Amino acid sequence: TWSTRAFIQEQIKLIKDKVADKKAICALSGGVDSSVAALLVHKAIGDNLTCIFVDHGLLRKNEAENVIKTFKDKFHMNLIAVDASKRFLSKLKGVTDPEKKRKIIGEEFIRVFEEEAAKLGKVNFLVQGTVYPDVIESVNPIGGAVKSHHNVGGLPEDLEFELIEPLRELFKDEVRKIGLELGLPEELVYRQPFPGPGLAVRVLGEVTEDKLSILREADFIVTDEIKKAGLYKELWQAFAILPNIQSVGVSADRRTYTHTIAVRAIVSEDGMTGEWARLPHDLLDSISTRITSEVEGVNRVVYDITPKPPSTIEWE
Ligand code: XMP
Repeated sequence: TWSTRAFIQEQIKLIKDKVADKKAICALSGGVDSSVAALLVHKAIGDNLTCIFVDHGLLRKNEAENVIKTFKDKFHMNLIAVDASKRFLSKLKGVTDPEKKRKIIGEEFIRVFEEEAAKLGKVNFLVQGTVYPDVIESVNPIGGAVKSHHNVGGLPEDLEFELIEPLRELFKDEVRKIGLELGLPEELVYRQPFPGPGLAVRVLGEVTEDKLSILREADFIVTDEIKKAGLYKELWQAFAILPNIQSVGVSADRRTYTHTIAVRAIVSEDGMTGEWARLPHDLLDSISTRITSEVEGVNRVVYDITPKPPSTIEWE
């Protein structure tokens, strides 16, 4: 639309004037906000923007590859992709407390980011995909108090960067329009929210490579079936959880004792409250059948039928 294009042109001019021939960096997560912010700034200053993508090994199936493909191959942006999965996993070893996990991941993320940024020489600007609801939530003393979300203020204050936050006054649907206008693939534009600490808060208790890989496969099936049923865009989030319990099952006349996968699908406007989605029974059946037959180490699938409140959307 006209207003979307006008916004883009106006921001490009502002960013160009501000950055001139200096350098900017951006932490790309693959989520829609940071992607749109990065694209917009890239339009304005081209190769003077370097994006850093930290793969903490807690992403969903194919996610890292897709981010790299999109930004490097499609948009030809300067992208540094760091595979830091080993590092994060070793920091998380033996840690079971959800808030401790979040803290460790947040701090390690900053460390990796800083290390990469330091290799780039003088950088003056930091691009962030802050959107209007983030701004409100970080001002609201109750917001983020239940869980330590770290979208805003996630990077340390003492970094000597000036911030560029082109989406600060926008709501999600406006950000999406801009993403589409800039040519961002629909798959990315309509991606459901995904927590910064990723699958680490969906593997309850200690995070291990084995548990992550079971969860990743199960989660892929949930998303795949929901997309096939045409419900992906209607749901706030739909995903799998590994509750870290084992139970008895039977397979080809043999007793099994393996993991349970929980499925969560939420209908919500903003994630502050939510209803469990009344998914068709046949869809739940396909999800369960596929998970138990395709994912080794799972013999049971349950569906979470609790709204928020009293539950939260995530299990940790
Ligand atoms: P809860 O579980 O609090 O989740 O009902 C509300 C929304 O926030 C997301 N979420 C997070 N996002 N870092 C994030 O960036 C986090 O630590 C985090 N914890 C929850 C959650 O996916 C849902 O959309």
